[in-house]
Amino acid sequence: MKYKRILLKLSGEALMGSNQYGIDSDKLSEYASEIKNIVDSGVEVAIVIGGGNIFRGVQAEEGGMDRTHGDYMGMLATMINSMALQAALESAGINTRLQSAIEMKEIAEPFVRRRAVRHLEKNRVVIFGAGTGNPFFTTDSAASLRAIEINADVILKGTRVDGIYSADPEKDEKAIKYDTISFDEVYAKNLKVMDMTAFTLCKENNLPIIVFDMDTPGNLIKVLKGENVGTIVKN
Ligand code: GTP
Repeated sequence: MKYKRILLKLSGEALMGSNQYGIDSDKLSEYASEIKNIVDSGVEVAIVIGGGNIFRGVQAEEGGMDRTHGDYMGMLATMINSMALQAALESAGINTRLQSAIEMKEIAEPFVRRRAVRHLEKNRVVIFGAGTGNPFFTTDSAASLRAIEINADVILKGTRVDGIYSADPEKDEKAIKYDTISFDEVYAKNLKVMDMTAFTLCKENNLPIIVFDMDTPGNLIKVLKGENVGTIVKN
């Protein structure tokens, strides 16, 4: 395997599968089996999952709600997804630990960096819920922050597109896909990879990002084997 310790960022929306809202149980078990493949091959896996299939702070603001309030509700949405993913992974026979950035000790351990690292060393999958615990930060920022804290080798951003394109491939048929791109080129071309806070955190800490299609079975393990799947952003 090319990477020993990874942080996998999953989108909340992807959990909806073909539904308009909530969690699709088939999608959840599909993800669990993809993750099991890499855990079984000895990779240390940490996961951050979004909450957009349940609640989005930004949209709540458009509806007149205070942004901070909406963002905290979004953090709770990530906890629901994290718990669902934890259950699916455990059904697949994987040991997991869930840590929350907001204290809710009846359902999750608090986030303790050294403890998270110990779990990873014992081949437990660690799920980080509740974002960074702060409003105005996305789950992409939580993923970058946690990845750096646990010294992950790479952050894998699982999406529905198979990499980073020069333009939106759904709108522009001339859009080309990059196999490798530098952080500076992403800035220069104004490409959307992650929000700027998350992206800059990765750049400044020399943490490569791989964007790949998580919905194609087998892709996750291919990325870890170093096969040419998705797009890698690195310095
Ligand atoms: P080791 O120290 O490596 O044995 O790790 P461990 O996670 O097995 O240790 P521990 O005995 O502390 O935890 C046993 C179980 O309790 C695990 O499932 C933990 O996730 C859970 N646990 C530990 N602390 C908390 C907490 O504050 N809240 C909740 N809800 N669960 C906790």
